Amino acid sequence: MTAPKTFHVKSFGCQMNVYDGERMAELLGDQGMTATDDANQADVVVLNTCHIREKATEKVYSDIGRLRKHAGALGRSPMIAVAGCVAQAEGAEIVARAKVDIVVGPQAYHNLPDLVAKAAAGVPALDTDMPAASKFAALPARRRVGPSAFLTVQEGCDKFCTYCVVPYTRGAEISRPFDAIVDEAKALVDAGAREITLLGQNVNAWGKDEGQGLDSLIRALDRIVGLERIRYTTSHPNDMTQGLIDAHRDVESLMPFLHLPVQAGSDRVLRAMNRSHSRDSYLRILDRVRAARPDIALSGDFIVGFPGETDAEFAETLNLVDAVGYAQAFSFKYSPRPGTPAAEMDGAVPAEVMDDRLQRLQAALNRDQAAFNAATVGRACALLVERKGKLPGQMLGKSPWLQSVHLITDAAIGDIVDVDIVSAGPNSLGGMARVRAAA
Ligand code: SAH
Ligand code: SF4
Ligand code: F3S
Repeated sequence: MTAPKTFHVKSFGCQMNVYDGERMAELLGDQGMTATDDANQADVVVLNTCHIREKATEKVYSDIGRLRKHAGALGRSPMIAVAGCVAQAEGAEIVARAKVDIVVGPQAYHNLPDLVAKAAAGVPALDTDMPAASKFAALPARRRVGPSAFLTVQEGCDKFCTYCVVPYTRGAEISRPFDAIVDEAKALVDAGAREITLLGQNVNAWGKDEGQGLDSLIRALDRIVGLERIRYTTSHPNDMTQGLIDAHRDVESLMPFLHLPVQAGSDRVLRAMNRSHSRDSYLRILDRVRAARPDIALSGDFIVGFPGETDAEFAETLNLVDAVGYAQAFSFKYSPRPGTPAAEMDGAVPAEVMDDRLQRLQAALNRDQAAFNAATVGRACALLVERKGKLPGQMLGKSPWLQSVHLITDAAIGDIVDVDIVSAGPNSLGGMARVRAAA
């Protein structure tokens, strides 16, 4: 194989994978390779995969098949690299099952250029090490990003919820050093970012080992000139410190949005999930968050049909939803994952019961999302303009509460404009630019 010249990176799963995908693209770009939007035309295709539910994992294999077929029809046979959480979980099995050229784990992708060179020389290349030295130091500097950028500050998880693969695919909790994060945030702002979302599997556990808190990092980032908005995700209830809650009251650039997964409303189910918080302790955290920042938009994750979940226990999830009033949320059917304790538990919930529960939960969540959106009509807020809309002159931006808002404006991508929210649909809001008083 001649040295590959073009590449395509496709990321699945969570925002941390999106971030990793950007970094892998920067790495390959640094090697003089060019990104292409069409996977079928690329010399190297990186599939940056997710292992969280069975469907996500199976998708990798169907994608590989499809890619081979379509690229093959064009007379091409791209080098295929499987990265991300499936790479970590299945390693050499992927090479055996799908004959891919490269398998690289989430903690090893700084070695991607070497792996590409190896594969080009015809040697199968596999790296799923979790080295003690961080990959971040080996990555090239950030160059060009959109107005809203991701920045991974924490990786891994020590919580071991009984259903979840993340502690195995991403390893133990590690926090990146304070200075490295501040430097990368400044580089992102220089590269065009006005908003940064701090990422971690348990982002609010950042700095815990060193006796620091995410709030101290947020307060430092707040001082970066040109950085207008800060967000963070995903948080675990047990790491929701009072310092971080207070930051929602004190730090103006910290947006009024909190994604705090609860998973279920029944204490018995929460214990079986090893969530190590109760329904009540979770609700009390939200009370404190709302006291600090009354307009905060709340978001969560839910699993229905965990082994042994009864109708009465599921009803407790529904009534927790009623009690909270989420602005948005994600909900999933439980998927047994190999190697996790829950996969060995009795009491599998039948598929049709799971379907019914998911439908009922999503109906409740949609109702609350619509109510939250409707309640913003009439409010004034600042909008970060992120991209062009479908109609002429239309732009799309995000409200402080992470809602998509469309408006007709001559503002450019990256501008922050003051708007009145004038209408609310199920998935987006309509805004109208505020006329500024003449100076
Ligand atoms: N670290 C984050 C995100 C974990 S993965 C957190 O703890 O909140 C994102 C979501 O996927 C989880 O919050 C959970 O709702 C869901 N999830 C994880 N494992 C799952 C499984 N085996 N089946 C179904 N949903 C799952
Ligand atoms: Fe998975 Fe639980 Fe860790 Fe979240 S906290 S990543 S759900 S083990
Ligand atoms: Fe999926 Fe891995 Fe993220 S399993 S959700 S890509 S941490």
